[in-house]
Amino acid sequence: MTKIFHTNGRHIHDEKLVLEAAAILREGGLVAFPTETVYGLGANGFDDAAVAKIFLAKGRPSDNPIILHICNEEMLKGIVKEIPPKAIQLMKKYWPGPLTLIFKKASCIPSNVTGGLDTVAVRMPSNKIAQRLIQEAGVPVAAPSANLSGKPSPTKSEHVIEDLHDKVDVIIASENSALGLESTVIDLTNAEPVLLRPGYITLEQLNDVVGQVKVDPSLFFQLEQSKVRSPGMKYKHYSPQAPLKVVQGAMEDVVSEINRLTELFQHQGKVIGIIATEQTKDRYHGDIVLSLGDRNTPHQIMHNLFDVLREFNQYPVDAIFSEGFSRNGVELAITNRLVKAAGYDILEV
Ligand code: TXA
Ligand code: MG
Repeated sequence: MTKIFHTNGRHIHDEKLVLEAAAILREGGLVAFPTETVYGLGANGFDDAAVAKIFLAKGRPSDNPIILHICNEEMLKGIVKEIPPKAIQLMKKYWPGPLTLIFKKASCIPSNVTGGLDTVAVRMPSNKIAQRLIQEAGVPVAAPSANLSGKPSPTKSEHVIEDLHDKVDVIIASENSALGLESTVIDLTNAEPVLLRPGYITLEQLNDVVGQVKVDPSLFFQLEQSKVRSPGMKYKHYSPQAPLKVVQGAMEDVVSEINRLTELFQHQGKVIGIIATEQTKDRYHGDIVLSLGDRNTPHQIMHNLFDVLREFNQYPVDAIFSEGFSRNGVELAITNRLVKAAGYDILEV
């Protein structure tokens, strides 16, 4: 039986719910909770049996390591071998917030947290409920996104309930995620920092703080399994049920190519979904056209992306075509998630 705690973190009554959830976490239970990026599915990060339950609930491959969520720097010292100077600079600027850092791990961390790697991913979320929960649990909280493996990450409590009801002990159902996309992940365990997953904190912002950051090739290309540095990046991700193709290029060319493909498929009796923007949504002949938002506000597009991908599962579409985005600023993260959701099916026009 899953308990659902409705709270926006602003009432006295809410505090009691968070304390109860923290006790369940500490004692080895699974608690889904809000963060500023997406909802997370938490377990006591020191308890390997509790962490094992995360993999079961999500259907997650066991070699995909999990981020440890902390609420202060004291906690960090207990779980890493060393804190390199570049990490200190990034923590000063971006913690608490949507940035995950990879460190060399301390021996106390169960190996199922790190998928057998000798490194560990750590994040300090800024969401107040997440912070209270971790503080009260008194342990680092291992938490992947609170979706079934392969599906888009949950940005609303309804998404979590849809995926994990009856699979976890508690779901803290709160407001929609403020950002709507998972944290930026950067590896600082070697001399040269490597961006493993783009997010709200952009590559440009990282370069400003720590100098040249390398972009991991797996962000946009399917690599041989052995060459993937961030194990999570090799699996199919974020996918709606229908196959998705991304069409990239100049706006006019994209609109005509998507309309050409749409007509071709509709002739074969197929129902077509289209992922558009405010600028173009009225120009498509698809059966279902959903807009991600205004191209001039990429943060809005980032915020709506997973919700729109999920929304397509409500419609009987046979294929989905999406407009593409650039690789500047947060659009790098939008492009990365779309490329993964499409299983690398990208058409350049
Ligand atoms: O915003 C977020 O990061 C959300 C919220 C809940 O905090 N969490 C999240 O977790 O997105 P998850 O498990 O869905 O994604 C974690 C990513 C995966 O791509 C995983 O492979 C990578 O981080 N990762 C974790 N530990 C790693 C490590 N030691 N080395 C390299 N990559 C790692
Ligand atoms: Mg995930």
